[in-house]
Amino acid sequence: MKKFIDIDFGSTRYDELVQLRYKILLEPLGLKFLDSFRDKESSYLHLGCVEGLDDKLVGGLVLAPVNDEEVRMMQVAVDTRYQGEGIGRDLVRYAEKRAKDSGFSKIVMHAMLSVVNFYEKIGYTQEGDIFEENGITFVKMVKNI
Ligand SMILES: CC(C)(COP(=O)(O)OP(=O)(O)OC[C@H]1O[C@@H](n2cnc3c(N)ncnc32)[C@H](O)[C@@H]1OP(=O)(O)O)[C@@H](O)C(=O)NCCC(=O)NCCS
Repeated sequence: MKKFIDIDFGSTRYDELVQLRYKILLEPLGLKFLDSFRDKESSYLHLGCVEGLDDKLVGGLVLAPVNDEEVRMMQVAVDTRYQGEGIGRDLVRYAEKRAKDSGFSKIVMHAMLSVVNFYEKIGYTQEGDIFEENGITFVKMVKNI
């Protein structure tokens, strides 16, 4: 059975989440997880999905406050073997609940073009033009929660 959890910055789970993010998001693009990322993340909210008897971490994401109203969702990753089972959708829903509980009213994010449809299906809308960062094309997406 899958469960959605909050992950403490600096915990063993946090290290597992960093590994998962590296494997799913950074390694395929030839990017490294830099220690400077870690330094910035202490004030972020780290969320995950665990599955099975051993509570294996199969998905995760990060929420970074932008201001009192907005929070930025980043690094949404589901383990390759568990993709397409609804985990990404439920994880984003959990993040929306956690963001709302924390007093935020809007989620903003930069989605890779390849996953825009995934976010549209769960209520996010495109805002502004597409743009490039490190050779990857992104679009800003937003949702009021
Ligand atoms: C994108 C990602 C987070 C989606 O999570 P997931 O658990 O595989 O997706 P779900 O099973 O919850 O899918 C929910 C719906 O979105 C659709 N969907 C999933 N990935 C999609 C994609 N890349 N493009 C279009 N639709 C997609 C599913 O078909 C499903 O549709 P349905 O409700 O009509 O059946 C996951 O596949 C992933 O980690 N991909 C690699 C990393 C990545 O690109 N992250 C996004 C960074 S911006």
